[in-house]
Formats: sequence, structure tokens, C-alpha cells
Amino acid sequence: ADRRRGAGRPAFRHYREVEYMLTRLILAAAVAVLAGCGSMSLRSATATATLAPTKGNQASGTVNFTQKGDKVLVAARVTGLKPGLHGFHVHEKGNCTAPDAASAGAHFNPGAGPHGAPTAAARHAGDLGNLQADATGTALYNAEVTGISLGANADSIIGRAVIVHANADDLTTQPTGNAGARVACGLISKSADKWF
Ligand code: CU
Ligand code: ZN
Repeated sequence: ADRRRGAGRPAFRHYREVEYMLTRLILAAAVAVLAGCGSMSLRSATATATLAPTKGNQASGTVNFTQKGDKVLVAARVTGLKPGLHGFHVHEKGNCTAPDAASAGAHFNPGAGPHGAPTAAARHAGDLGNLQADATGTALYNAEVTGISLGANADSIIGRAVIVHANADDLTTQPTGNAGARVACGLISKSADKWF
């Protein structure tokens, strides 16, 4: 007897079943890869704040924010400062309209922590420490900060404000770090999502 004919499964039909299975496997793999990319490395959320001087001051600059996993990389360049340290914070309200920027409210503090250093375990999420201005009044800042995000949760800094102060943040005085007047303020705006 012919065993192939006895099985009742023409060769072409078997081939189509294998092809169907392979197609499903490839589609499943593609979906898994796309899902992974979407939530991890390929999508990079960024935001920017343009700092403008408050009344009677000259400080201005740019702050760039990039989400890196559960941290946010903060990179700033500020000019027009008095040489030395200047308190640098995210404040809770995205409102720089008051001449002294008091409209930006207090330090962003979604976790109800005490004021502290950006590396402290307990702190305001908006505590970024200090900018250090050189003899020309220019400050560069680069830090990876926890407790804030560029997302949509309570820790999001989108729509809030960045403030630069006249004096050093001592990282201990409650609740402000005794950093003095607000010399520059900028609204934090999300940039269009980039895929790379
Ligand atoms: Cu501040
Ligand atoms: Zn604080």
C-alpha cells in the first residue's frame, strides 16, 4: 500500500500548515520586539525649560531633561550669575509670571519629604542642589536625578517650573535651603517623543 496516500494529507496541505505556523511565530516575535522598544530604550522622552531672569536680574539659560529609565538626566547651562553656588530646584507650579517668580510656588514635593540634597534618600523631588557659576557667571550642571519623571504620574515635572536662586542652597534649612531670591525661572515643556 502507498503510505502517503493512506494518510490522506496531500503534501501541499502540510506545507501550508507549516507556513501558517511560521507566520504566526514571526508576527508574535515582531509584536514582542515592538512592545519592548516602546517601553524601554528606543523611545526617549525629553523636556526643556528656557530660563528667563526675574525683575532686576540677568540670569538666563536652558535646562534639558531626558528620561533614562526611572531617572531623569538634567543638563543645564546658565549665564548671567554671580560667581559661586546657586540653589537650583523644580518648583511645583508652572507659573513664572510674578516679577519675583513667587508664582512658581514651593519646591516640587509629591512625596511630602524634607528639603535636602539631590542625592539624599529623603528630599523634595524637585531638589536639584546647586549650580556652580564660574568667574564669568556661567554654570554647567549635569546630574541623573531620581524621584521625578517626564511621564503622566504624580512625579511628573512637565508643566512645572525650574528656579535658580541668588544664593547657595545649604541642603539642610527647611523648607527652602535658605537659597534666597529667585533670579531666573523657566516653564518645563515636554518635547515631541523621539524614536531612536
Ligand atoms: Cu527653588
Ligand atoms: Zn527643597
